[in-house]
Amino acid sequence: MPVRKVVTYGHPVLKKVSSDITDFSDIESFIQDLFDTMYEFDGIGLAANQLGVDKRIFVVDISHMEESDADSDKPLVFINGRVENPSGSCVDSEGCLSLPGIRINVERYESIQYSYLDKNLNKCSKIFSGLLARVIQHENDHLDGKIITDYATPSDLLEYKTHLETMRLENS
Ligand code: NI
Repeated sequence: MPVRKVVTYGHPVLKKVSSDITDFSDIESFIQDLFDTMYEFDGIGLAANQLGVDKRIFVVDISHMEESDADSDKPLVFINGRVENPSGSCVDSEGCLSLPGIRINVERYESIQYSYLDKNLNKCSKIFSGLLARVIQHENDHLDGKIITDYATPSDLLEYKTHLETMRLENS
């Protein structure tokens, strides 16, 4: 299965709210493309619109991370998901495959309930916390047209001004 090109900052698809998937006929090969591309670029999560595809799906794999535990020790697929019952908050630095070289401190809920379809299209609703909750919120943001620079402070934007401008021009 092919590794695909990851869309970068400034591309309009990253600002678009993704549509729920209703036709699941090609879902398996698309899931494979998401994983292949995520692993190729050493990501821990990847959303469909980062491959330029308007579909409400993302993949996550934090199994190699220190904070991984038994529940998160496998590649995960989230389809047509929604965040519910958020609680708490915590701030940590995040990166994104669509914003290479950029780190932004982002405040996230400490714990969320996430309702979604898994890779077998089974309905799930689970509570996530810690790193997994953070990654799910980051990827869910992508599907809502939101990226980490939307959380940037004026000093973050100043620090990355040239870098962001370069990517924006490449995508215009
Ligand atoms: Ni991202």
